[in-house]
Amino acid sequence: MKIYKTRDYDDMSRKAANLIAAQVIMKPDCVLGLATGSTPIGAYRRLVQMNQEGDLDFSRVTTVNLDEYKGISPDNSQSYRYFMDENLFNKVNIDKRMTYVPDGMEADSQAACRKYNEILRAVGPADLQLLGLGHNGHIGFNEPGDIFEKETHCVTLSERTIQANRRFFDSEEEVPRQAYTMGIGTIMSARNILLLVAGQDKAEIVKNAFFGPITPRVPASVLQLHPGVILVADEAALSQCDLPLSGQL
Ligand code: GLP
Repeated sequence: MKIYKTRDYDDMSRKAANLIAAQVIMKPDCVLGLATGSTPIGAYRRLVQMNQEGDLDFSRVTTVNLDEYKGISPDNSQSYRYFMDENLFNKVNIDKRMTYVPDGMEADSQAACRKYNEILRAVGPADLQLLGLGHNGHIGFNEPGDIFEKETHCVTLSERTIQANRRFFDSEEEVPRQAYTMGIGTIMSARNILLLVAGQDKAEIVKNAFFGPITPRVPASVLQLHPGVILVADEAALSQCDLPLSGQL
C-alpha cells in the first residue's frame, strides 16, 4: 500500500484528482469505479475544472459506481445517481449512457443485483476504483459482517451508517435502511484502488483497517491484500498511525 499524507482536505482532493486525471490521460477509454459521500466531492470539483479548462477529456470514459440506496429514485436529491450527476457527470463531457449506478428503484433485490453484476462483468474490471471509508470500516456499503461478500448484494445498513447518513436527510425516518452495493470481490478486482480519507473522526478506523488484522468485521482491511492500493489521507486521518518518515509503506 502506498500512503500519501496530505496537509488537509484540499491537499487530499488535489492529489486525488491528479491521480484520477493521470489514469484518464494514460488510458482515455478507461473504466473508473466511482464513489459518493462527502470525501470525494473536492476531487470531483477539481476534475470538473480540469475538464472545463480543456485539460481532461471524459468522452471515452466508462464509470461504475459502488452503490445506491434501495427505494430511492434517480431524481431524488439523496440518491447516489443524483449525487454523481450533480457533482461530476452533468459538468463534464462524459457520455451519460456509459455511467452505471445500481438501480435503486428495482424492488426485487435479486434482480437488481443480477442486473448490476451483468453490467460489471460486461464493462470489465475498473482500471481505477475510487473509495471512501465509513466509520465502521465499510467500503461502498459493504458493512461489517461474517464474510466478505463477493458480488453485488443488498445490504441492511448498520445503525452507525444510518446515523452518519442522517445529516443528508430531513429526518431520521427518511434515511433508507437498505442499499445495493458492489461486492468486495468486484472491488478487489480493480487494477488499482484509490482510497481517500480525511478528518480526525476517521483516525481510529484508518489505524484498525490498515494496520490491524484482516477481517470482514472491518471490511476495508481486505485492501491490505491488494497490490495496487493508494491511500491518500490527511494528517488528521493518519494521526493514530505510526508511519515511516517517507509516509509510504
Ligand atoms: C457512504 C457511502 C460510502 C462512503 C461512506 C463515507 O456510506 N456508501 O461509499 O465511503 O459513506 O462517507 P463520507 O465520505 O461522507 O465520510
